[in-house]
Amino acid sequence: MSEPIFKITGLTKVYRSGEVEVHALRGVDLEIAAAEFLVLLGPSGSGKSTFVNIVGGLDAPTDGQIFFRGEELTGMGDRGLTRFRREHVGFVFQFYNLVPSLTARENVALVTEIAREPMDPGEALEIAGLAADRHDHFPAQLSGGEQQRVAIGRAIAKRPEVLLCDEPTGALDSKTGIRVLEALATVNEEIGTTTLVITHNIAIGRMADRVIHFHDGNVARIDENAAREPASAITW
Ligand SMILES: Nc1ncnc2c1ncn2[C@@H]1O[C@H](COP(=O)(O)OP(=O)(O)O)[C@@H](O)[C@H]1O
Ligand SMILES: [Mg+2]
Repeated sequence: MSEPIFKITGLTKVYRSGEVEVHALRGVDLEIAAAEFLVLLGPSGSGKSTFVNIVGGLDAPTDGQIFFRGEELTGMGDRGLTRFRREHVGFVFQFYNLVPSLTARENVALVTEIAREPMDPGEALEIAGLAADRHDHFPAQLSGGEQQRVAIGRAIAKRPEVLLCDEPTGALDSKTGIRVLEALATVNEEIGTTTLVITHNIAIGRMADRVIHFHDGNVARIDENAAREPASAITW
């Protein structure tokens, strides 16, 4: 691997509430190459969301280190993490969190107004696979898959180096889910965004460069694919 975009060592997260301790991550080591497409699999509660949230600077680990392009995120403090997220990271979640009173284009424009070298909102929506005749529709006028494409357009409009997706197809039927995964693959190919996708669906692993299997707060196994398959070839 050339110099990785992320170097993660001993990543540990313990949630404490009163007397109870939950060990969500138990010392995860992982290097991630720039422009890599990773799929994260594992049972519910195995630490996938905790891992992705920490990598994206939404949360801080209890122990361990993360370097992003050689710069240590851990120990950067809240302001540093906020800047890291704003400049470098896009997030896509299971639920789209769009502003209902704004059109698709306006939802994306919210982000491009504050980004440094943003895409045109229409371009971001096009890469995310939203048909041009839908760009001026409101969320309530769009299907779930279309709303998720707006959320992807919003996440990529600032040209983030990193795109983190936590169960992006979790609320979608399989046909719609595949269209959304195609959009993520297109983003990765067109703007070289390092992409992590959490899913419950083993079949989705075929579109990744590597599949990271989580189990009980650890990386239990890593599978490397010789070639990525297009999302359209996946059935579930
Ligand atoms: N904010 C939190 N407070 C306490 N425990 C949490 C919190 N978030 C996650 N956990 C616990 O940490 C473990 C890992 O959770 P999570 O990272 O969400 O797993 P996954 O995304 O693989 O389902 C689970 O036992 C979960 O209950
Ligand atoms: Mg989760």
